[in-house]
Amino acid sequence: MSHVRSRFDKPADEMVVKYTTSLPFDKRLYHEDVRGSIAHARMLAKQGIIPPFDALEIIRGLLEVEIEINDGKFEFKPEMEDIHMAIEARLKEKIGEAAGRLHTARSRNDQVATDLRLYMKDVIIWTLESIKSLQSACVGLAENNPDVIVPGYTHLQPAQPVLLAHHFLAYFEMLQRDKERFTDCLKRTDVLPLGSGALTGVAYNIDRAFVAKELGFSSISRNSLDAVSDRDFVVEYLAAASLTMMHLSRLSEEMVIWSGAEFGFIEMDDAYATGSSIMPQKKNPDVAELCRGKTGRVYGHLLGLLTTLKGLPLAYNRDLQEDKEAIFDATDTLLMSLKVVSGMVETIKIRPEKMLKSVDRSYLLATDLADYLVKKGETFRNAHGIVGRLVSHCIKEGKTFSELPLDEYRRFSPMFDQDVFGITVVTSVDSKNNPGGTARDRVEQALAEAKALLSGS
Ligand code: ARG
Repeated sequence: MSHVRSRFDKPADEMVVKYTTSLPFDKRLYHEDVRGSIAHARMLAKQGIIPPFDALEIIRGLLEVEIEINDGKFEFKPEMEDIHMAIEARLKEKIGEAAGRLHTARSRNDQVATDLRLYMKDVIIWTLESIKSLQSACVGLAENNPDVIVPGYTHLQPAQPVLLAHHFLAYFEMLQRDKERFTDCLKRTDVLPLGSGALTGVAYNIDRAFVAKELGFSSISRNSLDAVSDRDFVVEYLAAASLTMMHLSRLSEEMVIWSGAEFGFIEMDDAYATGSSIMPQKKNPDVAELCRGKTGRVYGHLLGLLTTLKGLPLAYNRDLQEDKEAIFDATDTLLMSLKVVSGMVETIKIRPEKMLKSVDRSYLLATDLADYLVKKGETFRNAHGIVGRLVSHCIKEGKTFSELPLDEYRRFSPMFDQDVFGITVVTSVDSKNNPGGTARDRVEQALAEAKALLSGS
């Protein structure tokens, strides 16, 4: 019978053991658990709470257990409640009675909260790095295609020309805010709960600051009840992850649209596309589609955990064990998505001629024509009306703006002159020369700033 069941008359029902164990998934925390236990054992010896020799034995034993797990030689026994119990039980097999001193002045409640925070701190760092890689991919695309012009859309209807670089730098900005959110959430994750005991603190002269230093935490928690029972730092990560996935999903959606034959603006690299089992001609953007699809899954984990937490009285409740599968799946999904989408963006083939053709055909310069009339003295509202009628005329005639002779222009307004033909997609783009606009100078500057941010952050 498990060593925590001495007050029971019989072992737990087999089904109950299966239902309550977290070992199959929380074994991922073994490294954090060993790290936490070593720091705890060191502190206990330093404070004279356990004999130094026992602490040495415990540390040696824990390192051996970690190696066993690393090497796949550790036997994960299904009757163990979680990774914390499994490691302690194995430690006992290895070093005997001294193992029993490790859990002095500690509860699994502050132990698991510590392990999870250690794990999350690493994950946040990896997340920041992965977001940076995707930002670099966006910057690379912008840099390699400085003059490429693409139709900008609103309502997915062609709106005004923009630089492709400006378009991808928009994603750079979203990702920059995502990084800020993760960096912020790291601050609140970086707090040591160990020393909170089960819920009240512990009745030993422990040194929490020492443990915090050993484990690299910036501070220690101020309230034991709170420290063992909240998982708001995980919720924050999931919320930040949801926003990042939302951004990835929007980018993915766009790549799906752009790679469609009707658009043909981009082509996925063969290594990032899939085929069809029946239609030999197909080249499908499954990576982008799956990223879009997996976004819902991360949102689901956010809502799932919020719901788990909402009814919990202080302090620890076993419901909290439900945080782990959510967090592991969400972190795996986010990190993998960031990696694969970076690869997709890095290898995308741009089809500038297709983009230009589309820019030409869709009256994207209509706003520029209106602005032209305004600069000649027309009010904007009148100019809007004039160009609207002009567009309607062109559509009926099957002509583009550049194919329309000047005398036809003049039928709509006498203000039109020869210089109207000087309006091109390039002058259109360059005329948006304000901070944040798509003019080539501005985008060049934005690109330099993005690169500086990447090398600095
Ligand atoms: N497996 C548990 C969890 O993940 C560890 C803490 C168990 N504490 C307890 N009092 N049963 O939350």
